[in-house]
Amino acid sequence: MQTAEEARAARVACPIAPGRRELNYAANVEPTRTAYRQLLEMPLCSHGCCHIICAMTDVTKYLDGRTLILLSNREPYEHLASSERVHVRQPPGGLVSALDPTMRRTSGTWVAWGSGSADRETSDAVGRLGVPPYDPAYTLRRVWLSETDIEGYYLGFANSALWPLCHLLIQHFEFHAEHWESYKAVNERFAAAVHEESLRAKGVAQVWVQDYHFALVPAELRRRAGNIFIHHFWHIPFPPPDILRLLPMGIPEALLTGLLGNDLVEFHTERYAQNFLSCVREFLPDADVRGESLRVGIDGRQVMLGAFPISIDVEAFERLALSEESDARATALRQRYARGGRALGISVDRIDYTKGIPERLRALDRLWTDTPELRGRFTMIIVATPSRTELVPYQNLQSEVLASVRQLNERFGTPDWEPIVLVHENVHAELLAAVYRAADLCLVSSLQDGMNLVAKEFVASQVDEHGVLVLSRFTGAAEEIADAVLINPFNVGGFADGIRTALEMPPDERRRRMRAMRAQLHRSTIFDWLESILVKCAALMDSRLADDGGRERNAVGGDGATNGPPRSRATSTRSADDWREALP
Ligand code: ADP
Ligand code: F6P
Repeated sequence: MQTAEEARAARVACPIAPGRRELNYAANVEPTRTAYRQLLEMPLCSHGCCHIICAMTDVTKYLDGRTLILLSNREPYEHLASSERVHVRQPPGGLVSALDPTMRRTSGTWVAWGSGSADRETSDAVGRLGVPPYDPAYTLRRVWLSETDIEGYYLGFANSALWPLCHLLIQHFEFHAEHWESYKAVNERFAAAVHEESLRAKGVAQVWVQDYHFALVPAELRRRAGNIFIHHFWHIPFPPPDILRLLPMGIPEALLTGLLGNDLVEFHTERYAQNFLSCVREFLPDADVRGESLRVGIDGRQVMLGAFPISIDVEAFERLALSEESDARATALRQRYARGGRALGISVDRIDYTKGIPERLRALDRLWTDTPELRGRFTMIIVATPSRTELVPYQNLQSEVLASVRQLNERFGTPDWEPIVLVHENVHAELLAAVYRAADLCLVSSLQDGMNLVAKEFVASQVDEHGVLVLSRFTGAAEEIADAVLINPFNVGGFADGIRTALEMPPDERRRRMRAMRAQLHRSTIFDWLESILVKCAALMDSRLADDGGRERNAVGGDGATNGPPRSRATSTRSADDWREALP
């Protein structure tokens, strides 16, 4: 084990600003608990733990003594074996970025696939361990999957069928009956693990399922655990019926019935919730669908839906961006890439066909072709992490992105200027915050995206308020964030115009827009998101209890809470809520 001193010494070259030396925890350091605490106090830490020291809203009160059991496919901490040592990392992706800080606060149990090569040796016989590994705040329960499971359930049905369908990118849709069989079997296995954890939980358990990997879990869990409270956050768009119909007959019905095992289904936007209701209307004609109040009656139960736009730990990002280290990094980045009035652009994504990376490169090509005077005027840093590399569309996309960047650099580059700097790896949050801070524009070009957290991370990190957000109108974020420059990534010319607008925007307008976006983001953080969901759940549970007590009331749920900021439960009366709901 290394001490903090040794850890400090274990520095490696920074991929973005060569010549500078950075601490790289994930790759080199396995500190002791004490050393870890010392690292926390350092102005620079490179292992995602800064979230721990940020001030967070106390959300435990909304759990009212219940234990939160969260289920997701992706685990929050993955142990990997290298030739020298075992190290831990946080996998990239919006789900983990959003939920780890919240789970640290609620100290429950997170059930997930143990995907790391050293996961078994770092957990107990059942697959449990305390996380974060050096300052445990909650329990991670790992579930083991075989190669066949991974191929059928994860790479197959979840990522080759549901992922493209939900993102309306049907050219990537692939269906195999054996993948569906595997998805069903794995969902059952996870439901059993969650049930087991719920029986171990102190007090009453509240189960929170995440995403499209587990559409069948809620109904299966309800079959096993009866009256348990189950809710589900769907992190990606939900498609309209015409798209879901591309699945073989019987499967849309099974997926929707599975999801209707929940008490509450949460989407980023009301549009996705309405798509879900349209699908229920079409595929489950016996269900009682109430579009205005976002609820479904089925099998004598009421299932609520709601729009809860996910967010980020805004203050943590802001703090990272404001640190002396970020200041120094941002200055270094600007000196290197934005000398002499040159602008600096940034984009950050997993290499996924939903993110519109080739479309972004085409827009840059168009911009530099049509407006030669903009050559040399700005540099793009494209941070693009490999993702789901076992799948052919992802492999092809990666090759395409690498080749296009090379071609663009060859065509437009000069001895003094490299148009695109490609960072083809995982970048830790501290460094991301500095790059976001340094940038004059951020390009988010998703073809479809449930929310897109990168847009929010950029805004949170823009502490000097000079950056412009160029944002695809097909992200959930675009429905929430005003003052971005909205683009349609399918319209190459319009996208290039959007970049030009951002580059030419006067400083006063940049500042005004960024300030407005920052103020709005501060009103809608990851903790507001979590609170609004937990408040809604608490109200639904209250009304269920009232129901069980035989009090006269309307249908269960929907009437107990709004998705807005939490109110004191003592003053949250149903009549007050009815009145609110009655307002236009
Ligand atoms: P998705 O969930 O589809 O990956 P989001 O934009 O909602 O898309 O979330 C992506 C998350 O993953 C963000 O928190 C972002 O910072 C992180 N991320 C994306 N690419 C990288 C990368 N190259 N290195 C580190 N983190 C990354
Ligand atoms: O946010 C959508 C999502 O699918 C998450 O569920 C997931 O963690 C993230 O994208 C990254 O994908 P994966 O877990 O397949 O690497």
